[in-house]
Amino acid sequence: MKVLMIASEIFPLAKTGGLADAVGAMARALAGLGAEVRLVMPAYRAVLEKAGELAETGMEVEIPLGGRKVKGIILRAEIGGKIPTYLVRCDSYFLRAGLYGDARGDYPDNAERFAFFCKAALQVAKRLAPWEVIHCHDWQAGLVPVLKGARGADYPELGGARDILTIHNMAHQGIFPPSIWELLELDREYFTPRHLEFYGQVNILKGAILFADAVTTVSGKYAAEIKTPEYGCGLDGVMRDREKDLHGILNGVDYQEWDPATDRHIKKNYRPKNLAGKALCKKDLQQISGLSVKPSVPLIGVVSRLADQKGLDIVAEVLDDLMGFDLQIVILGAGEEKYQTLLAGLPAKYPGKVSVKIGFDETLAHKIEAGADIFLMPSKFEPCGLNQMFSLKYGTIPVVRATGGLDDTIEDYDPLAGSGNGFKFSGYSGATLLEAVKRALTLYVNKGAWRRLMAGAMAADFSWEKSARSYLALYQKLLKSGSP
Ligand code: ADP
Ligand code: GLC
Repeated sequence: MKVLMIASEIFPLAKTGGLADAVGAMARALAGLGAEVRLVMPAYRAVLEKAGELAETGMEVEIPLGGRKVKGIILRAEIGGKIPTYLVRCDSYFLRAGLYGDARGDYPDNAERFAFFCKAALQVAKRLAPWEVIHCHDWQAGLVPVLKGARGADYPELGGARDILTIHNMAHQGIFPPSIWELLELDREYFTPRHLEFYGQVNILKGAILFADAVTTVSGKYAAEIKTPEYGCGLDGVMRDREKDLHGILNGVDYQEWDPATDRHIKKNYRPKNLAGKALCKKDLQQISGLSVKPSVPLIGVVSRLADQKGLDIVAEVLDDLMGFDLQIVILGAGEEKYQTLLAGLPAKYPGKVSVKIGFDETLAHKIEAGADIFLMPSKFEPCGLNQMFSLKYGTIPVVRATGGLDDTIEDYDPLAGSGNGFKFSGYSGATLLEAVKRALTLYVNKGAWRRLMAGAMAADFSWEKSARSYLALYQKLLKSGSP
């Protein structure tokens, strides 16, 4: 099975969130099952700095882009046990501090940057053809199935390949003003509501959904949710139209990266049978975060992009109530200015009890997973969510809102049956969040019951292999279904 995956971020080369984790680990899991996987992504500054051994491929591309021709070169790296990764280098687009934007917001030329990327990726695909599957992730790779499938497309080498689109987040669709149309070099017939037009704008994700042979998203619950107006972000009708070809496949966890027994970022490794290391990790986290070192005070961790999706507004709503309890909170996040400002003042208000680090810090993210007792993820929506699954492995009990992948992976604790692996609430409000945290705090003081909850959580297995098998089965089904 020859699979080409195209994505805008892939761990460990570049990451802003779970997309990178998911694509990197998915590729490795598929390769582990025997698929021949190759990857394509942009050569950002971070990639050029990080990937020590980038090889020249000799491949050059010259991409038509709104009447101009833009040149790029293709480099090659190997990630995750020798998966060839092709890096599209064009410094005027990708040699920047951020992947998608800076403190002022999204880069204004993102349509052009990712139109270039998709066209270059198609050239790579062409030169390395044949493929059985071309698997694209999110809007940034969304022009691939569109340009490949449009009438008059010049990709005969790719004729046998099936196109799969995985939606990691419906809230990011790549919506741009009609003036970007000329960059696409697509016939005007596709600027209609049946294709890429969306309330007068160009919607790249919409085009990808309509052109792909199959569409997947990253949990079963989210696959159902995006067919509703509440979660569909305006594309729920399109998702309903394609519901026969829509599949929810839960992401897994890359346990090579996220396992307290082997994690190289944390103070002391630990396993379910001996949790002494977790106590040391908690002490370490309290020390480096400027919190009072108190072993028995419950410590709540948050690692999050600072975006509306993540539910930080309802945390803020009840923060004073929360801080009325004997607990500590450590928050790591980067993103929207309004949340950075909201959070930045908290440590001074609650000295020794609240720690906030604004920024992207891989090591601290691991230390929080290991050192916290409770992990809070009150998302407004969550296509899959990885941190709650990491938390389970680290014996850090998740408190989550029942949405998307959070609902699929976390079962509410039932004190009578002793069942469940976390605490879950439904309504999106500070009050419901507070009620769930209170239930967690009440159980926390019952050491025996809490230990049992931790043991159950740590035994959960969300490894990638199962999910990778589902992707392979889908690829096989598509290939059997005749010519695309
Ligand atoms: P999303 O992709 O919506 O951000 P996920 O839960 O799927 O949410 O994945 C988030 C990933 O990004 C996790 O690996 C998490 O540890 C990481 N992450 C998020 N914010 C930060 C940050 N500020 N610093 C380090 N890692 C972060
Ligand atoms: C997105 C989603 C997140 C998901 C990740 C990986 O960023 O917000 O829920 O886990 O993609 O699929």
